[in-house]
Amino acid sequence: MVANTLPDRDNTGSPCDRRSRLSGHFALLECGDRAISTAIDTRFAFQQCINPDCEATYAVDEVHTGCPACGGLLDVSYEWDRLPVPGSLREFESAWSRRYDPLDFSGVWRFRRLLPFAPEDKVVTIGEGQTILQRSPAVARYTGLDADRLFLQYEGLNPSGSFKDNGMTAALTHARMVGAESAACASTGNTSASLAIFASTTQLFKVFVFVGSGKIAYGKLSQALDYGAKTIQIQGDFDDAMQRVREVCGPAKIYLCNSVNPFRLEGQKTIMYRVLESLRWEVPDWILVPGGNLGNSSAFGKAFQELKALGLIDRIPRLAIINAAGANTLYQLYGQQGLRWAEGRPNQNVVSGFYDEMDAAGRRATTLATAIQINRPVNLAKCLRALDVCDGVVREVSDQQILDAKAQVGRGGFGCEPASAASVAGAKLLREEGVIAPGDRVVCILTGHQLKDPNMTVAYHTPETESSRKLLAEAGAGQTPFANSPVVVENDIERILELVRQFA
Ligand code: F0G
Repeated sequence: MVANTLPDRDNTGSPCDRRSRLSGHFALLECGDRAISTAIDTRFAFQQCINPDCEATYAVDEVHTGCPACGGLLDVSYEWDRLPVPGSLREFESAWSRRYDPLDFSGVWRFRRLLPFAPEDKVVTIGEGQTILQRSPAVARYTGLDADRLFLQYEGLNPSGSFKDNGMTAALTHARMVGAESAACASTGNTSASLAIFASTTQLFKVFVFVGSGKIAYGKLSQALDYGAKTIQIQGDFDDAMQRVREVCGPAKIYLCNSVNPFRLEGQKTIMYRVLESLRWEVPDWILVPGGNLGNSSAFGKAFQELKALGLIDRIPRLAIINAAGANTLYQLYGQQGLRWAEGRPNQNVVSGFYDEMDAAGRRATTLATAIQINRPVNLAKCLRALDVCDGVVREVSDQQILDAKAQVGRGGFGCEPASAASVAGAKLLREEGVIAPGDRVVCILTGHQLKDPNMTVAYHTPETESSRKLLAEAGAGQTPFANSPVVVENDIERILELVRQFA
């Protein structure tokens, strides 16, 4: 069971007090070359409240999903000046020749010197993070960018088919460090698939996943079921499931794996390291990412802030977070109501006023991009910090724009699920607005695999069927300009040949 240890409040900042009790477990490695070059000293990692009026610190082996002192979000922080920080990002290239070692094979842990909280013998890895960045001239044309300037980062290539595996490996590593035997999450589908695959593959944890009833794409639900996770369907949506899982995890001593867990975000930082790695360590001009619970955007901001502070990059790219119009809390607060990080003191009255008004109107998140159907993003404050660090912008796109962009990603690349295409729809919008220039180097994060939500893909490409029309019309996405409809033909060789010649 997880030891939800009592808060070890420490406002004095004394590094000794907040050091992990796990440091004694620091793994001595059998593998000689790794011991010299990459062994991780976890004594200098700790947790810290991001609220500047609190800044309480906690040892790395405590389990919190919020600051016990003030309720704020926690960061995993490091005493970098006491750690062997790489002199240059190029140093990570040496890990490529050690792919026989699971830690260097992992696209997350080969960067472990930039997330040094875990003893290596506690790392829980299933080979996550083998993802690629691909230039896409076809999608560039669609967005209005110069042909060689748009890159797609395919996080759908992870073992469970979404970016979540980057975070899950880190959260479950921490779970293992603290001796947890069971873990849980609320999910719009991908987090549950990720937690479930880690549990089935490693057999280290019993897992519970909480999903909104009828609110999750079939591909994702099928994964949780097939991997053997205890799947609890709450009558409600993600926001309801999130609230309930938080209420359950504390008393039941279950380890919570949502992105409110700061260790999750440490893993998700590595998506940005891999983008830089693929660009041979050159910093792009823009990173575009869909916004849901705002974990990714928060992690990306932290990654760049740290890299800059460590002198490993000389500039920070701009960040664009794209909401679905039917789940646009961030867009409303940041874009319309001017909410800002304000050096760690965002105006809470604006936030609570917005939520009160939302509750009074009975407004629930509604979008075909079910992965980001979220109205109460738990990482809002960290995301505001990321926007501040990255001179960010926030936009909303309609379901129509999302599905059209998704069809273009399919036609010009590996494809993605609807939520992921928000990043490409956002690139097109920001190009049209002139915020992004045609020659800017732009990276769109494709967060989930195309096969996560085949129903939506088939509906778009078969708009003539009754069920498709209904599904698309409900979301106001009645147009299908890029539909590639199947052609029905008699089972007759002459007719089939005639048809094929027509398209040849
Ligand atoms: N894209 C996909 C495919 C997702 O599954 C999610 C979140 C997001 C984008 C949004 O990312 O929360 O970091 O802003 N899915 C969560 C889940 C909520 O439960 O699978 P975020």
